[in-house]
Amino acid sequence: MIGYREATDIRVKSAGDAPDRTRLSIKVDRVRHEYISQNGERVVALDDVSIDVPNGQFVAIVGPSGCGKTSILNMLAGLIVPTRGAVSIDGEIVTGTSRAVGYMFARDGMLPWRTAQANVAFGLEVRGASKAERLAQADALLERVGLKGFERAFRSQLSHGMRQRVALARTMAIDPKVFLLDEPFGALDAQTRIVLQEEFVRLWENTGKTVLLVTHDISEAVAMADRVIVLSPRPGRIKSDIAIDLPRPRDIESVRFDEKFARLARRIWRDIGVRGGGDIA
Ligand SMILES: Nc1ncnc2c1ncn2[C@@H]1O[C@H](COP(=O)(O)OP(=O)(O)OP(=O)(O)O)[C@@H](O)[C@H]1O
Ligand SMILES: [Mg+2]
Repeated sequence: MIGYREATDIRVKSAGDAPDRTRLSIKVDRVRHEYISQNGERVVALDDVSIDVPNGQFVAIVGPSGCGKTSILNMLAGLIVPTRGAVSIDGEIVTGTSRAVGYMFARDGMLPWRTAQANVAFGLEVRGASKAERLAQADALLERVGLKGFERAFRSQLSHGMRQRVALARTMAIDPKVFLLDEPFGALDAQTRIVLQEEFVRLWENTGKTVLLVTHDISEAVAMADRVIVLSPRPGRIKSDIAIDLPRPRDIESVRFDEKFARLARRIWRDIGVRGGGDIA
């Protein structure tokens, strides 16, 4: 973790501007989505889901497995088209993949034939920066995610947590309008997970960008987000939409011991209904 706090003056392009929260960044508008399963049956994954996310807001989506969380992100990334309804980014209906989104998954997408530095520089190539600029920015971003000294390392030489850091730096390098994160810390051990949550929030606080985080970890959702949306079991519908009014900047590690944190987490557990919808509070 050493390094990224010291390097706070290094910012990706257009970062640091206060987000205009009166503008809508993401709109999921009355979306229904159906898949056809292998045996030809129709699976309704999402039904009548609407979500408005103002510019710069950090939203977490939680809900039981199979309720359509990844489907929502895939729609916003332009990978699937909703059966009914529409999704928009910055007022434009999403019709295909674009540089507007930075998508990060549980399994890192680090390119094995490129060094850490070249992986991050790849994100910058998409932006058309010069080679010298790309390498300098890649190194700065790697330093910010605590990987100074590992610029020339390949995937096989890095731990899973380090690979996720590379993926994080590359996603930052793309400088997207919105971050779509699908359980990005899910496959990490508990300690590394908290360290990376902390790092992401620090980096994000500097950029003021919109984030949609899908997670199964309720503590992660409450610790990181401004707002948590709970989906019902499939077909996913909005069950609740909870404002997380914990102060920023947030200390991801110690906020977990806050009384308000416990209340919010308990409320979300209850809404998810892990015991077949029963109250656990
Ligand atoms: N390509 C597909 N073909 C058929 N059914 C699919 C397909 N993709 C997803 N589904 C179904 O749609 C539903 C929603 O899937 P989705 O991956 O969005 O859920 P999820 O909430 O992300 O689940 P998890 O928490 O397990 O990742 C699931 O029941 C799944 O089986
Ligand atoms: Mg999923």
